[in-house]
Amino acid sequence: MAVEPARSSRAALIPFAIEHAERIPQWVRDEREAFWLAPRSRLPLTAQRVIQWGEAEGERFTLLADPHGLPVGYGELNRLSRDPGTYWLGHLIIDPTRRGCGFGTQLTRLLMTRGFARGARRVTLVVFPDNHTAIRAYAQAGMDVDGYETHHFPLYRRSVRLTRMAISAREFQRRSTP
Ligand SMILES: CC(C)(COP(=O)(O)OP(=O)(O)OC[C@H]1O[C@@H](n2cnc3c(N)ncnc32)[C@H](O)[C@@H]1OP(=O)(O)O)[C@@H](O)C(=O)NCCC(=O)NCCS
Repeated sequence: MAVEPARSSRAALIPFAIEHAERIPQWVRDEREAFWLAPRSRLPLTAQRVIQWGEAEGERFTLLADPHGLPVGYGELNRLSRDPGTYWLGHLIIDPTRRGCGFGTQLTRLLMTRGFARGARRVTLVVFPDNHTAIRAYAQAGMDVDGYETHHFPLYRRSVRLTRMAISAREFQRRSTP
């Protein structure tokens, strides 16, 4: 699948700032979305819990609809500790009033572009298999299903077989070249 052109090419990533944290819990529509987004975070999701997500490692970004616009999304770019050539994306979310306009795809693409600019050989993520919108957005951004991983979520007392999606630097380069 070719990397689709963004419907709006003006969206931009800026470093996440503490003052953005209040918005993120407001973007979560229900418990199912909270589980998909942050299955290791206790409910209710609060700004304080969002701030704690990124304390250990990685880079955190806020997506602006345009370079001077309001925040419309959030996502993280992390290095896989057991394989530093692999970066993974986490906690991607778009303001529900702005979904379905291509921002999720753009957020994914901008994060993976950062990862490859940092020298990643591969960018990956895991997603719940019933999160069809997310899987579609990641596929639109150029990722392919790469395998499955079972993760245990003690807060929910559940184990789930997650879908792993990935794109290699070579494939990203190939798909980005007109
Ligand atoms: C996942 C998420 C980030 C996607 O953001 P978005 O801005 O809506 O994404 P996009 O508009 O770029 O793309 C969504 C695609 O999914 C499609 N889609 C929407 N609902 C769908 C469904 N039920 N089944 C399949 N595809 C669906 C849309 O049609 C669109 O595809 P298209 O471009 O071919 O029309 C957003 O839905 C979200 O924040 N969800 C809650 C948090 C979450 O689940 N995060 C993922 C954690 S892994």
